[in-house]
Amino acid sequence: MSRAGRASGVDPHVRPVASVDSPYGPDGRASTKVPAARAERLTKVYGSGQTAVTALHDIDVSFPRGRFTAIMGPSGSGKSTLMHCLAGLDTVTHGRVFIGDVDLSRLSDRQLTQLRRDRIGFVFQQFNLLPTLTAAENITLPLDIAGRKPDHDWMRAVIEAVGLSSRLRHRPTELSGGQQQRVACARALVTRPDIVFADEPTGNLDSKSGTEVLSFLARSVRELDQTVVMVTHDPTAASFSDEVVFLADGRLVDSMPNPTAERVLDRMKYLDQLQQATEEDEDELSDGFDPRPSRDDNPNYDHEDGDYRSDHDQRGYGSADYGPSGRA
Ligand SMILES: Nc1ncnc2c1ncn2[C@@H]1O[C@H](COP(=O)(O)OP(=O)(O)OP(=O)(O)O)[C@@H](O)[C@H]1O
Ligand SMILES: [Mg+2]
Repeated sequence: MSRAGRASGVDPHVRPVASVDSPYGPDGRASTKVPAARAERLTKVYGSGQTAVTALHDIDVSFPRGRFTAIMGPSGSGKSTLMHCLAGLDTVTHGRVFIGDVDLSRLSDRQLTQLRRDRIGFVFQQFNLLPTLTAAENITLPLDIAGRKPDHDWMRAVIEAVGLSSRLRHRPTELSGGQQQRVACARALVTRPDIVFADEPTGNLDSKSGTEVLSFLARSVRELDQTVVMVTHDPTAASFSDEVVFLADGRLVDSMPNPTAERVLDRMKYLDQLQQATEEDEDELSDGFDPRPSRDDNPNYDHEDGDYRSDHDQRGYGSADYGPSGRA
């Protein structure tokens, strides 16, 4: 979809005044009733003709506020594409994407840039800190760019939660990888965004540093009421989340509330098998042989529709089949 077709009538900065029926709370932030982000029938096709790749097929998913959600799936299953479409970093081919109740397809390029700057936080695998700035200057950079004054109480809460008070005057080269990534997380949170998207934030870290980063992300959700969506390959990282949603071959195939690393690992093995079989499928199916693991194995397969249930909100599989993780 071309950005040129976007209507320019919506200003993401103008938030309705709170009222009894308003989805916005007294502080002007959307209430918990409206998901922080959602996709409706989202399809993403790269390229065209014979070389076209459908990276996402007709995905319905929503990410509730105040929750930590992990997105998992085999390599090439569409995790980064989904995150980029949700964050307005990439256009969608069909369907719609919302941040709060703002339909991204209705924004002009300028409005989209402002929305990303003010309402979305990003954390990448590479920490992307500016080497010439101190940790503190890196953290406040988004506010400086936006010309906004820091909310000192909020900054103090973020810096306290991230546990970096004694390192604020250091430059990135004087910090460990884990500390640098925690600075990047604090930078993502400093604008008090509606949602933080993190694409493999622990991909470059050892397990101890990874745990520090994940603990901070989880704390930002539990104690600072933030919303985090994280792509990860690591079942241990996923176990810090409140819920995991699984992609396979561009489709949403499963979800797991209160995940544990062991259960996530089992599910990933199954999905890897499925993806491998799908890749071999075209040749094999032409011989009349279907090598895919039996769909009877996956209770999320809808035999009436002949497809995987893709509505994350139905939670047709995870909630019923997985018991509580034992975590509070
Ligand atoms: N810019 C692009 N042009 C063409 N195809 C693309 C592009 N970006 C991604 N793809 C394809 O879309 C599919 C999904 O890619 P995506 O990067 O979302 O996967 P992923 O799940 O994030 O994988 P990984 O775990 O390896 O990061 C893949 O088949 C990929 O080759
Ligand atoms: Mg990726």
